[in-house]
Amino acid sequence: MMKIANSIGPVTLALAAALAACRGSSAAPATKDTPAPAAKTAPAAMNMDSRTPLPLTAMMASHQKQEMRDHLKVVQEISAALTKDDFDAIAKSASRIGWSEQQAMMCKHMGAGAPGFADVGEHFHKTADTIVDAAKRHDRAGVTAALDATLRTCVGCHDTYRQEIVDDATFSKSAGSSGMDASCPMMRGK
Ligand code: HEC
Repeated sequence: MMKIANSIGPVTLALAAALAACRGSSAAPATKDTPAPAAKTAPAAMNMDSRTPLPLTAMMASHQKQEMRDHLKVVQEISAALTKDDFDAIAKSASRIGWSEQQAMMCKHMGAGAPGFADVGEHFHKTADTIVDAAKRHDRAGVTAALDATLRTCVGCHDTYRQEIVDDATFSKSAGSSGMDASCPMMRGK
């Protein structure tokens, strides 16, 4: 216990110092055109990350992370339901990450600036459908196998891509003709 506390101490102190430094900064607050001072530290972190950048606007990135947190919740709900062999609950939760036209469109928009991303996303949602299928058959081993296959697609995508926040103009440029438009569910405040 002491050992853990000792090893965490310096990190906590360093973090506190960094935060204090941020608060003490006399730089002007962030505006639409001038990013917050903290943003200057982002490139350093990015240089250590060799994954393929997925260019997204700040709004899209925030939306994606929100979706991701719900994906994780789905997995948790499925594990909980598995302990009770509650196949209806499994099917219901898994269908939240299942394939749909709307999902496919979202993956296409999100991945407009990153080759292959939309395909990985679609493959993920289709794999998640196999959890629903197995649950409907009340096939416990099938559900666990499908859950494993689905988690592999989560892991695979995370190993490959990282978010990169860009401004609207940069996103449109990187996305080319497949960029965001009013038809995207995200632009309708889904
Ligand atoms: C097609 C790609 C893709 C798939 C599939 C995918 N993710 Fe993600 N996920 C991402 C990206 C990109 C990020 C941002 C990672 C980064 O920038 O470091 C992310 C981030 C996350 C985060 C962090 C959210 C936050 O608030 O910071 C969680 C949690 C997460 N994903 C869970 C999951 C789970 C669980 C699954 C599968 C059930 C999944 N993801 C499938 C691409 C994907």
